[in-house]
Amino acid sequence: MVDSRSTQPLGSVFVGRQREMAELTAALDDALSGQGRLFMLVGEPGIGKTRTTQELTSYAEQQGVQVFWGRCYEDEGTPPY
Ligand SMILES: Nc1ncnc2c1ncn2[C@@H]1O[C@H](COP(=O)(O)OP(=O)(O)O)[C@@H](O)[C@H]1O
Ligand SMILES: [Mg+2]
Repeated sequence: MVDSRSTQPLGSVFVGRQREMAELTAALDDALSGQGRLFMLVGEPGIGKTRTTQELTSYAEQQGVQVFWGRCYEDEGTPPY
């Protein structure tokens, strides 16, 4: 018997973060109705900042939102943000 859960690629399941996603999707809905918001996701490396942002991106794109990504250098002495 095949367990369909085992056919999903590792890392594809997004676990928890209901509170964060509720806040972020509500903020996106606010933005779509004209009230822009700024959020910063802060936490130690590997805690899920990028993944949470990717999940929000999926949610946004499902609603026809165009999403842009920017990246910073990570070298020593790089100015923050
Ligand atoms: N809520 C989650 N559910 C499942 N996997 C997660 C979750 N948060 C992070 N991960 C996984 O953990 C790894 C590190 O997360 P990542 O978003 O890159 O961390 P950060 O950007 O904070 O350094 C990635 O493989 C990511 O897919
Ligand atoms: Mg990251």
